Amino acid sequence: MKIIAPSMLSCDFGKLVDEIEMVNQSEADWFHLDIMDGVFVPNITFGTPILEVFKKYATKHLDAHLMIINPENYIEKFASLGAKTITVHYEACDNLINTINQIKKLDVKAGIAINPDTAVSSLESIISEIDLVCLMSVFPGFSGQKFIPETFVKLEKLRQIITKNHSKAMIQIDGGVDLDNAKKLVSLGADILVAGSFVFKSEDAFNTIKKLDSVIN
Ligand code: DX5
Ligand code: ZN
Repeated sequence: MKIIAPSMLSCDFGKLVDEIEMVNQSEADWFHLDIMDGVFVPNITFGTPILEVFKKYATKHLDAHLMIINPENYIEKFASLGAKTITVHYEACDNLINTINQIKKLDVKAGIAINPDTAVSSLESIISEIDLVCLMSVFPGFSGQKFIPETFVKLEKLRQIITKNHSKAMIQIDGGVDLDNAKKLVSLGADILVAGSFVFKSEDAFNTIKKLDSVIN
């Protein structure tokens, strides 16, 4: 079973509870929550008050993607707000292994995201310690960007590193995912597809999730 994680950044925040309900009812598996601080990336999104809304209404796995510096200062808070996976950026952590251990101690799945210009080989020494790698297929900061095709090669390399190290890490692809690339991503070893604008800017988000699901599962 491959996982579909709609990125809620692209939803209509004026109808947030309805959007959450729609995802609850849909074929999607996770809620992908993009938290940005305006420092690590040139955009600010949302934080704890919005997480509280998800905690209250969402019935599926909350996947927090932290695009922030000093993520270690916020991990406990996000875990208490119901995040079941917390992903930090390789490029934003001073002590990656400490941060990963901090997440795991809270009984939360620990993920590392890497930017398009970070080599997958950077993860070789830590791959056995983590639950998820988020391979960014756009530069983090905004939804609605074009998928970077070099991601396919990185994905194949990452899958090899995971196999070689007997790691249980799942591979998540984030940015520009749509019906044109979903099938290939899954065939090359992706486990989780994040999709924001492709889902929420479509005419019928519920149906778009269904289509994505039928292509990959
Ligand atoms: C980018 C975010 C992504 C993004 C996905 O910084 O991490 O999750 O919102 O949106 P789309 O699918 O529109 O690229
Ligand atoms: Zn994301």
